[in-house]
Amino acid sequence: MAFEEMDVDTIWMDGEFVDWDEAQTHVLTHSLHYGTGVFEGARCYDTEDGPALFRWEEHLDRLFESAKVLDHDIDHTHEEITDATLRLIREQGLESCYIRPLVYYGYNSLGVSPEDCPTKTMVACWPWGAYLGEDAIENGVDVMVSTWRKHASSQIPTNVKATGPYINSMLAGEEARRNGYVEAIVLNKEGKVAEGPGENIFMVNDGEIYTTGLSESILDGITRDTVIELARDLGYTVHDEAAIGRGQLYTADELFFTGTAAEVTPIRSVDDTEIGNGGRGPVTEEIQQRFFDLVDGKLDGYDEWFLPVETE
Ligand SMILES: Cc1ncc(COP(=O)(O)O)c(C=O)c1O
Repeated sequence: MAFEEMDVDTIWMDGEFVDWDEAQTHVLTHSLHYGTGVFEGARCYDTEDGPALFRWEEHLDRLFESAKVLDHDIDHTHEEITDATLRLIREQGLESCYIRPLVYYGYNSLGVSPEDCPTKTMVACWPWGAYLGEDAIENGVDVMVSTWRKHASSQIPTNVKATGPYINSMLAGEEARRNGYVEAIVLNKEGKVAEGPGENIFMVNDGEIYTTGLSESILDGITRDTVIELARDLGYTVHDEAAIGRGQLYTADELFFTGTAAEVTPIRSVDDTEIGNGGRGPVTEEIQQRFFDLVDGKLDGYDEWFLPVETE
């Protein structure tokens, strides 16, 4: 959905709440030219106990860590960014929404070195449903293995959620969509499975769960971590340092994506090869149900993952 169709009117920029249409930056902004921003994607869920940010501290930690690698000196504390985000949600009357904090080098000079450019920070929130479509959650998505490879962490650090490297995601995703698929899977430089353009990937075989390891050039996904914990709590064996070959994708019993945007989305085919029974597999369904119960606030024991929007 386009922003114009949404009922949102405020963005937080560098300590100020500004009108949505006034939240602008100069065309000579450093990060616009060199992709030197870092960002997060988090979600606020409308839980049984009211709206709450999901794993917000982990998202903020990753934002500050990404910023550290790109030498950003963020002028705002965790608390300031959190307060601003909660106010944006409350004052715009949002119940569930996507949250996008961005830290970037602003306007001053345009050498590749950003040393004279100020670090700027913004947060925006907007309603955002199922990333790969409502149908995808139930029936799964058709994906292709991209001809683009994921950059290695020796080229661009893959634990950092920086703006520029999303060219890789964009190229892979658009290639897939041009070819009639919903999403891509990218292999790493060694030819092993890395992840989706905006998702981590899980495989189920003989009742055990596998996900590609951090050394496979993936983002250390917070949903990945959530699903690993939920699956282990359900009694599954989870191999979280797996190296998965392309051929293993075709023969997997089940495959699914995880991500803040994609949540838990089954993969029903890869390169036109049906996975398992060609729909959502039983383990995927159980984990997906558990995930949605969690973010609906129905599970006990995970309170520390939620930050309520209303404080009283
Ligand atoms: C490349 C990539 N991998 C994985 C993920 C999933 O990470 P998370 O679960 O923290 O959203 C994302 C989304 O942020 C991503 O962009």
